Amino acid sequence: MKKIEAVIRVEKLDAVKAVLDTLDCPGLMLTRIEGHGKQKGLVQQFRGREYKVDLLPKYKLEVIVVDAMAKPIAEAIMEAARTGAVGDGKIFIYPVEEVCRIRTGECGEGAI
Ligand SMILES: Nc1ncnc2c1ncn2[C@@H]1O[C@H](COP(=O)(O)OP(=O)(O)O)[C@@H](O)[C@H]1O
Ligand SMILES: [Mg+2]
Repeated sequence: MKKIEAVIRVEKLDAVKAVLDTLDCPGLMLTRIEGHGKQKGLVQQFRGREYKVDLLPKYKLEVIVVDAMAKPIAEAIMEAARTGAVGDGKIFIYPVEEVCRIRTGECGEGAI
């Protein structure tokens, strides 16, 4: 089992959710976050002055899937979330040791 953690643009959420719906995605978690990547935020202009915004709002989307689904889901998220400009976000993939459904007590892939 794998966890796909995708940090995406706020305005790309609907497109990413739509593509996940077509892929039999078993569930998702969504968190509003602030962060920066290599550019360390951006410089904005306001009333002729420049000021630096170092933490930008993004969404963090987490999906736990069976191993075979990790690649197709990560690729679909990448396509749906891409604009080609800096700040498009990143995808991190982690191994997941165990999943348990609290309601039934069942654990393993069947609990995903
Ligand atoms: N190395 C990292 N560690 C943790 N979070 C990261 C990392 N790189 C990017 N992020 C998260 O992804 C968001 C978008 O990153 P992005 O600007 O697209 O990355 P980069 O500038 O490195 O290409 C950031 O706001 C941050 O929340
Ligand atoms: Mg960046």
